[in-house]
Amino acid sequence: MLVTSIGKLRLEKPGMVASGIMDETGHSMIRMLRSGAGAVVTKSIGIKPNPGHPNPTFTELKCGYINAMGLPNPGIELFGKEMEIAAKCGNIIGSIYGASPEEFSTLAGKMEEYGAAAVELNLSCPHATGYGMELGTDPAVIGSIVSAVKSSVKIPVWTKLTPNTHMIKDLALAVQNAGGDAVVAINTVKAMAISPQFAKPILSNKFGGLSGPAIRSIGVRAVFDIKMVVDIPIIGVGGISDWKDAAQYIMAGACAFQVGSAIGTRGIEVFDTINTELEKFMKDYGYSSISDMIGVAHE
Ligand code: DHB
Repeated sequence: MLVTSIGKLRLEKPGMVASGIMDETGHSMIRMLRSGAGAVVTKSIGIKPNPGHPNPTFTELKCGYINAMGLPNPGIELFGKEMEIAAKCGNIIGSIYGASPEEFSTLAGKMEEYGAAAVELNLSCPHATGYGMELGTDPAVIGSIVSAVKSSVKIPVWTKLTPNTHMIKDLALAVQNAGGDAVVAINTVKAMAISPQFAKPILSNKFGGLSGPAIRSIGVRAVFDIKMVVDIPIIGVGGISDWKDAAQYIMAGACAFQVGSAIGTRGIEVFDTINTELEKFMKDYGYSSISDMIGVAHE
């Protein structure tokens, strides 16, 4: 009943682990696949090893988290070891970040070689100079990166979009026009927190990305907006912690969803809980499949 398709990729369960949590090692990714996630999106990986920002990189608020890790990762060569462990056990989606179409193409080619089921282009990190949303808020730049990656790999190419824009529909259209296979919406919202006692920003980077319940309604609106202009699949992400949140995204137009912060607040059981309760809701309300529910809020 919970099976879904993102274009040609079929998932037994509609919920995936969002990039950036429980997805740095092969074994943590396997653990998440066994906990009821239909796929795991890796930590965003770049060309070279990157230590990330100095601490503090993370702060918890009443309504979510703000983080600016600084895209820490071992680099694409070393990450091959983790992919080798995890990719044979289920759907691993390779999240990648780069500074140019060439870097994205190289990274996507490596992820394909490592057995990734799809790649997710991180064109939406809210605070990295020369990366993320600095590239991903210009439809022309998105188009050039998506077409370059599409011509280098056979696996599906997804693009994760930023909500830090007034033109998310144009960004989604740029993905579709460049041949992209899916849009992932949304990445974190650019935010900051200040410590009154220290009279300073809490994070070493000053700004970071807000995630968790605070951004759910922004994400649902983004998916609803995007659904009005594109035909390619949409994956919903942002503040999902229970079946009601997931159902909102699906009814706005998503065929699958991702969970990030709620793995921190609810534990890895969050996937099993959402699966069981979403299935019960579907039975009670007469939806025989996820596809029956996609975009129904538009009707
Ligand atoms: C980071 C990357 C992201 O894409 C995001 O949304 C938040 C933080 C990071 O690594 O700093």
